[in-house]
Amino acid sequence: MQQNQLEPERAFLVGIAIKGSRPLLSLEDSLDELALLADTAGMQVVGTATQNVAQIDPATFIGSGKVEEIKLSVEAMGAHTIIFDDELSPRHQRGLEKEFGDTVKVLDRSALILDIFAQHARTHEGALQVELAQYEYRLPRLTRQWTHLARQAGGGGGRGGVAGVGLRGPGETQLEVDRRDIRRRISKLKGDLQQVRMHRSRHRAQRDRAGIPLIALVGYTNAGKSTLLRALTGADVYVANQLFATLDPTTRRVTLPSGRHTLLTDTVGFIQKLPTTLIAAFRATLEEINEADLLLEVVDITHPNVLEHIETVEDTLAEIEVPPIPRILVWNKIDLAADQPPPALPRGSQYAATVTVSASTGAGLDTLLETIEKALAKTLVKIRLRVPYLRGDLVSQLHELAMVEDQQHTEDGIELTVQLPAALYERFKEYRIRG
Ligand code: GTP
Repeated sequence: MQQNQLEPERAFLVGIAIKGSRPLLSLEDSLDELALLADTAGMQVVGTATQNVAQIDPATFIGSGKVEEIKLSVEAMGAHTIIFDDELSPRHQRGLEKEFGDTVKVLDRSALILDIFAQHARTHEGALQVELAQYEYRLPRLTRQWTHLARQAGGGGGRGGVAGVGLRGPGETQLEVDRRDIRRRISKLKGDLQQVRMHRSRHRAQRDRAGIPLIALVGYTNAGKSTLLRALTGADVYVANQLFATLDPTTRRVTLPSGRHTLLTDTVGFIQKLPTTLIAAFRATLEEINEADLLLEVVDITHPNVLEHIETVEDTLAEIEVPPIPRILVWNKIDLAADQPPPALPRGSQYAATVTVSASTGAGLDTLLETIEKALAKTLVKIRLRVPYLRGDLVSQLHELAMVEDQQHTEDGIELTVQLPAALYERFKEYRIRG
């Protein structure tokens, strides 16, 4: 949403508190987060306004008196864009656009997050998912202003724009033409995504056959997931003090203290009020989390809203229906909070373990790896095997994929006691011996 390279788009933020409602974050904290989002999108925040209301105004969301007041501030600050902290219904969007006129753009938190996602998508699948979410979001909100924006949709290279299409049929208004084009575009995107996903599920099947355990990083945006991935694997992944720096899953190999290999995957961060169209569009990517053997929940221990972040992660995991996979809570950024004890966890929290680390300095990472090893061991089955001498390849595989506790060369073959990932049991069960 950069206006041009020299002058960032000047944004004015608006938040409301509805009497009797209990939002997760306070109005001020939520607006601070919105300001970070605007900053990440390349905008400059020039002012904010808040409003306490008994109920939402059906026409203008904030009430006509507040609209007049904001108009004056926006003009005084030279703002180009007003961003509402809550998702505006299509009706409110239209009402507010009418009030503020053609010179000021009206956006909401969802549109802003969608824009950031569009800027940050790196893979083909990521770009398709964001584009789909953008169109799904815009379709019911199409007005003249949005029509103009929709023509630039797609984040990069104009791939998703509807420019150049849309000849008017008899009796059709331009808006109807645009709606038709967007619907067509949505169904094309869904088709393309299905293709990409079929390809990906083939990859996944190959990995399952290899039987290497998968660990997924989850956490609030900016908690330090990519930094941790890099620290544990040496991967050259993108780390930035931005919200949603990583969208596309990155998977790297990690070697545990016993020498056993696992895969560590990092994916999109969570945030309160994540637009529902985005969750829907990213469901396939997020569902990778469901296949993990272990989750590392990374939490920024220094953040004032740390407990709200944990709650958001909890809610988002529930929304994407993640099964009860063992979870390790990783308090991160301890280098910035050396004397600060971790806050008390919400009642009923169920973590296999908690570990305190600094992904930046490396403090605590050895303990984290040992904790991972112990947690994974719990998803292992302990069995005895006798493998014929001719199958030395299987013995090598066991050393790589399982924990070998004991190995003896006998007349009948190599006898081993191993802790085997449950997923690999089928492959080795014909060599199982009792005792
Ligand atoms: P998203 O991609 O938004 O989901 O973020 P993320 O969770 O992957 O966070 P990322 O690794 O990009 O880190 C966010 C910011 O926190 C960056 O500026 C990092 O340098 C910083 N950071 C991460 N870990 C630590 C840490 O242990 N200590 C300190 N001081 N900073 C850290």
